[in-house]
Amino acid sequence: MSPAPSAAFAQAAPSRAARGSIHVAGVAKAYGATTVLSSLDLTVEAGTFVTLLGPSGCGKTTLLRLIAGFIQPSAGTIAIDGRDMAGLPPQRRPIGMVFQNLALFPHFSVEENVAYGLRLRNVPDAELRRKVGTFLDLVGLGHLGSRRISQLSGGQKQRVALARSLVLEPSILLLDEPLSALDLQLRKQLQVALKEIQRELGTTFVFVTHDQEEATLMSDRIVVMSAGLIQQYDTPSAIYSQPANLFVAKFVGELNEIPGRIVAATAGTVEIDSPSGRHALPASGIRGFSPAPGAACVIGLRPERIAILPPDADTGGRIALSGTVIERIALGPVIRFTLRCGEQRLVAVRLASDAAALPEAGSACRIAFEPADAQIFEPLAASAAASFGEKP
Ligand SMILES: Nc1ncnc2c1ncn2[C@@H]1O[C@H](COP(=O)(O)OP(=O)(O)OP(=O)(O)O)[C@@H](O)[C@H]1O
Ligand SMILES: [Mg+2]
Repeated sequence: MSPAPSAAFAQAAPSRAARGSIHVAGVAKAYGATTVLSSLDLTVEAGTFVTLLGPSGCGKTTLLRLIAGFIQPSAGTIAIDGRDMAGLPPQRRPIGMVFQNLALFPHFSVEENVAYGLRLRNVPDAELRRKVGTFLDLVGLGHLGSRRISQLSGGQKQRVALARSLVLEPSILLLDEPLSALDLQLRKQLQVALKEIQRELGTTFVFVTHDQEEATLMSDRIVVMSAGLIQQYDTPSAIYSQPANLFVAKFVGELNEIPGRIVAATAGTVEIDSPSGRHALPASGIRGFSPAPGAACVIGLRPERIAILPPDADTGGRIALSGTVIERIALGPVIRFTLRCGEQRLVAVRLASDAAALPEAGSACRIAFEPADAQIFEPLAASAAASFGEKP
């Protein structure tokens, strides 16, 4: 029989269920005849960091504004901690919001900006001071409380905006591209700071960005959106390695695309004709469609899955193509290659620790990949191709 839990263990157990879950069911939003969001379903678990990622105009801000209650859905429901939010105004929802334009009071001090929401709620002075101090320390601005906003850098202002929302202790914080106006260095610092703060407080964060690297770095889960639809909702690593379709694969991480045509598809294998020959690929690489003989397809290969070998090398059981190295660029821990293989250009990324064994620009080479590393996609619809700047 297992021993009874100790008193210490019992005390450590959470005394109340975590707050801050969001349940979006069948939510649509239209303006007149224009549909901006089409029947979205999304569950955000309490205490997680979820990022909405997608191209401009796909509906990220619209979804945040619906959750916050600034606009109402045309259909569907939004519940927070199991409670339907229909008809509840923004100030009565347990939500804070940080916008891209920070909307701080420029002539107030940092402390006064952070205290503003607490004053509106008539929080007693001693408690107000304690909370403002705590949250300014949390965002690393404890020493700048008396500064005016107009005397701060962009990153410091961003931290004030964050403290101002967090001091009200919302169970959910919505952040609409809060880092996009900052330079790269500052942005990287704040990415780490934001993630740490989120972990420490256990607040649910719904964060919006266009930047796939930022999304991958910060999130527990990513919602990839395009044209008002959720394309995939999963962990960053699952989205990278098991993308739902070609849009997701191209939007998150780099992808080599080899055009092809399905010759035959059985339960285990798909045969594809491509400019580099006929390839038999495992059916486990099919992403989100049913391949029919004669249909066009795209073979997708991640750059780190492409090996570059001497022209006469034994490529084992791998698929091998002959090619030329066009460019070789050292990028710190990796080397990035541009390869040509017939009409096809491929990007490959190899570890710098293998530099000595890798060919120089101008060399002929063998390009090899494992059949299991090839992903098979349906080509993008013209509208989706346009969001990557591609012509149909
Ligand atoms: N009030 C409105 N009336 C009509 N159309 C609107 C309105 N608000 C937003 N839209 C449209 O809805 C679509 C989605 O807008 P939204 O602001 O949600 O995009 P987004 O994903 O946040 O884009 P960005 O990355 O550029 O901020 C856009 O095509 C936009 O023009
Ligand atoms: Mg937006």
